Amino acid sequence: MDRKDVLDLDDFSREEIEEVLSTAEAMREVLSRPIRRVPPLRGKTIINLFYEPSTRTRISFELAAKNLSADVVNVSASGSSVEKGESLVDTIRTLQALGADVVVMRHPMAGAPYLVAQHLRGSVINAGDGCHAHPTQALLDLFTIRQKFRRIHGLTVLIVGDILYSRVARSNIWGLTRMGARVILCGPPTLMPDFGTNGHRAGLPPVEVCHDLDRCIERADVVMALRIQRERQDGGLLPSLREYVKLYQINRERMLRARPGALVMHPGPMNEGIEIAPDVARGDQSVIEEQVTNGVAVRMALLYLLAGERAGLAVA
Ligand code: NCD
Repeated sequence: MDRKDVLDLDDFSREEIEEVLSTAEAMREVLSRPIRRVPPLRGKTIINLFYEPSTRTRISFELAAKNLSADVVNVSASGSSVEKGESLVDTIRTLQALGADVVVMRHPMAGAPYLVAQHLRGSVINAGDGCHAHPTQALLDLFTIRQKFRRIHGLTVLIVGDILYSRVARSNIWGLTRMGARVILCGPPTLMPDFGTNGHRAGLPPVEVCHDLDRCIERADVVMALRIQRERQDGGLLPSLREYVKLYQINRERMLRARPGALVMHPGPMNEGIEIAPDVARGDQSVIEEQVTNGVAVRMALLYLLAGERAGLAVA
């Protein structure tokens, strides 16, 4: 992979995505060993810079870096000089001076990692910027889909819920369409960006938009539920949660309408009982836990491709 940063999937070619996914397969093998540690990032410093709450993404990056023998430092906005009013660019200059090889960054402002990437000599990985992008989540979703179906091309992926505020949906639209899947978006009209009449919105690849979940779920090979992003809404966009549950919850009856063998996915954290019924979240068709495990492998692959010593993987 010939790039400094991973900011979104919009600039990833199909070949690059394939390279990440096949490297992640090698990393899954490392994760199955009794000692899950290989040396390709020995001596490298990875900084996790998180300005927003996160459990799985931050821990996933931390484990990924440690499994590759890197030194990892976690910085959160609270308790750092950010609270004293330090600007983002000043923080980055400091991290540069401290020798950061990779900065993994989550920030509430869309575009923040792009600014950081301009100022840092090391690599930047976007771990979620506002409502904009979450490329590592999309890559782990692609990995999980490919693991189950042995392909992505030709599948129909239905993404359900709060599309408007979802960085997961946006990055997945890029990744899935680049890999040849068909994307259907379904959710309340108030939580749907304007795709016009032909499903084409400036700045995103063409998708299909549908508001009748019971109808469009019949074509789905994969049903991906999204969390209602209450922290990003000013309010008023959802008539009521009861109404939402009635029309858009992924529950058992609805999954019976999906294609045989359809998968249920969710990036987490879940609001069980709202966008997804608890029995479906833990049911046979759910790959939600595998998404979490695969997240470590995919992040190992990215760290390795950006900063690793290529000879180091084979040596346990
Ligand atoms: C997502 C996020 O933070 O964007 N979670 C995650 O990274 N696993 C989705 C969400 O917050 O709903």
